[in-house]
Amino acid sequence: MKNLFSLKGKVALVTGASRGLGFAMAEALADYGAHVVMNGRHKKTLDPKVKALADKKHAVWGAAFDVADTDACAKAVADIVKQHGHLDVLVNNAGTAEYAPVTDYPLDMWERLIGIHLTGAFVLAREAGRHMAARGKGTIINIGSIAGPKIAVPMMPAYATAKAGLEGLTRALAVELGPKGVTANCIAPGYFHTELGGSLKEGEPPPDAAKAFYRMVEEHTPLKRWAKPEEIKGLTVFLASDAASYMNGSVIYIDGGMSVLQ
Ligand SMILES: NC(=O)c1ccc[n+]([C@@H]2O[C@H](COP(=O)([O-])OP(=O)(O)OC[C@H]3O[C@@H](n4cnc5c(N)ncnc54)[C@H](OP(=O)(O)O)[C@@H]3O)[C@@H](O)[C@H]2O)c1
Repeated sequence: MKNLFSLKGKVALVTGASRGLGFAMAEALADYGAHVVMNGRHKKTLDPKVKALADKKHAVWGAAFDVADTDACAKAVADIVKQHGHLDVLVNNAGTAEYAPVTDYPLDMWERLIGIHLTGAFVLAREAGRHMAARGKGTIINIGSIAGPKIAVPMMPAYATAKAGLEGLTRALAVELGPKGVTANCIAPGYFHTELGGSLKEGEPPPDAAKAFYRMVEEHTPLKRWAKPEEIKGLTVFLASDAASYMNGSVIYIDGGMSVLQ
């Protein structure tokens, strides 16, 4: 029987794959047979992570660029198509968080966050989408968040706006590219232990200053714990695979139930 989840023959680009959720997703896609191009801003931190997967006999390449650089995004898609022949899966994951009170939120911080999370994702989706539409197949996975579309976290107005925007972008891509055989979906994570989410190793206690925050997340999550980065792998492989051939325009919350807790 055909393995519905096999990614053999597919080429994927995962942005922000030098650590955290992006690294976990790149590893999962490679585990299932995809050729994976891993992105991050810094070659110095990206290269060792690419090597770590290459050492496991995975087919992986590094492409260091800043997703806020729109020319670099367009070039990256063109380079992948030139080098690998095609691009089948785009995972728009790169992201950062910066905090300031909304009434003092600096405009440059706002523009930086929107540039990385939203404009970068749009340009990569536009470039990849054009290529995929011409081939009549491909899929785009945007990494949203529970924060923005479902809940709001104080001092993160740009992040919340960008993540809500990514859901809109996902729907826009789904309706326009769907007729051309290209799908777009959004994975919206809750709280995962990563540098951005709040990094703690399993069993490690939170620092005193952050104890209340860690407890708050646990209390507001029906599963009563934070997620581990590898818990995003299954959903990513599913959405990238032929098993998800009829998934289009969906936003899937992977948050231990946080978004449905009253
Ligand atoms: N962790 C959570 O709880 C959580 C919850 C909801 C949503 N998310 C979303 O999930 C995504 C991944 O987050 P994470 O928790 O894995 O964060 P992370 O551990 O901080 O990793 C972020 C990744 O993005 C890269 N990156 C940052 N800015 C970039 C840019 N301008 N261009 C290219 N790469 C860039 C980083 O590498 P360099 O710094 O080397 O460039 C790194 O590889 C983000 O979009 C985040 O908003 C996370």
